[in-house]
Amino acid sequence: MRTRRRAVSNVFAKIHNMFVRPPAFEYKDRKLYCERIPLDQLAEKYGTPLYVYSATAIQDRFSIFDTAFEGVPHTICYSVKANSNLSILRLLAKLGAGFDIVSGGELERVRLADKKTLSKVVFSGVGKTADELALALRAGILLFNVESEGELELLAECAGKLRTTANVALRVNPDVPAETHPYISTGLHEHKFGVPIDTARGLYRRAAAHKYLKVAGVSLHIGSQITDVSPFAIAIERATELIRQLTADGHKIRFLDGGGGLGISYNSAQPLPFPELVSSYAQAITSVLQQLGKQRPHLLLEPGRSIVAPAGALVTRVLYTKRNGAKNFAIVDAAMNDLLRPALYGARHEITPVALEEAIIQTDVVGPVCESGDFLARDVTLPALGSGEYLCVLDAGAYGMALASNYNTRPRPAEVLVEGARARVIRRRETLKETLHPESACL
Ligand code: LLP
Repeated sequence: MRTRRRAVSNVFAKIHNMFVRPPAFEYKDRKLYCERIPLDQLAEKYGTPLYVYSATAIQDRFSIFDTAFEGVPHTICYSVKANSNLSILRLLAKLGAGFDIVSGGELERVRLADKKTLSKVVFSGVGKTADELALALRAGILLFNVESEGELELLAECAGKLRTTANVALRVNPDVPAETHPYISTGLHEHKFGVPIDTARGLYRRAAAHKYLKVAGVSLHIGSQITDVSPFAIAIERATELIRQLTADGHKIRFLDGGGGLGISYNSAQPLPFPELVSSYAQAITSVLQQLGKQRPHLLLEPGRSIVAPAGALVTRVLYTKRNGAKNFAIVDAAMNDLLRPALYGARHEITPVALEEAIIQTDVVGPVCESGDFLARDVTLPALGSGEYLCVLDAGAYGMALASNYNTRPRPAEVLVEGARARVIRRRETLKETLHPESACL
């Protein structure tokens, strides 16, 4: 009966997706739309550079992720660092998300977005301060993912002062290599993250001896933008071995936090269909987890990029075009301060014109910042561009605005959330006055 109901609801979901839920960014009549709004309309109204997100895409991706794990008790703790806009956090909280945070600042974001979800917050990070720990203890978060012995002692001290108990997981470093950019791989011994898995048992014993600490879980995170599911399975396998030992040592491991890290395709010529990828990821993790039988803990996951990256884009305006020797340049009004990923990781984001024309020139798309590393894309094929035309940098919903800065004293972009035919500003454009205020107030 249940299967039949699910089959019927799947058919409904498909029909719903086809007719009611348009893809996030798509051409209609040679114009690029976000859901039902043409991007040039948004650019004219709100100015550029402009981050545009599809609420429907975020909701769909979260639901696909969540549903893939329906076979095991779990909570999806969206990783706030990927895109921490308050309206996006609120949208995800409404869908039942918990949150993975790495600072007191992110904790405050969750509180503002939806304070009821504070009880579904996990706190990771190698350098939590006493103030941040106290803030999180007072907020009554779900789990502290402790990354060192020093942090364990400090947490015990803070919890003691507040006479409150902290649920503790050690973030173990499973020493699993993950095929990704070296800056975002985290699960090897040479990285600063976590405690070596083979020394964890001793630390768990110390944690259990503290009056105000409660051993509650094991956590790990092996890196980001990982598109092969096998490293996740190996890491979870190592964690389950540890859970067996810890259980034998007398600890009650209620949570296994598998971290985030599932990647997306930034290249439309090599698509990675999300439902299939998530489903094999879920399969890889849950099949290992099931081996724990009755000892199986509640699963926590911390996806960031896979939920929001393809749901967002950066719209920018061409300021000038020029040719230096054999090279063409389109100089646009978005720069490395607005989207750092190409400069920092050599990341490739597809760039597509908002008004579709035949692509005929090979060009670099660069920003106004005074660094040669300030490019959004190199050697891309685009239509002959004129100043005033709009370009759209795709898959910029994760680690786009979150990594934006004021470098070159450039105010940060505005952000707009689209749902169907409605658009709403979710962060207004910073003004120059605001950018300068912390200093001008000191003159
Ligand atoms: N949990 C922990 C403990 C993390 O360190 C991270 C990401 C996540 C979860 C979320 O990972 P995701 O599902 O988004 O891959 N700025 C880089 C990515 C840095 C990732 C840092 N940690 C980029 O733009 O590619």
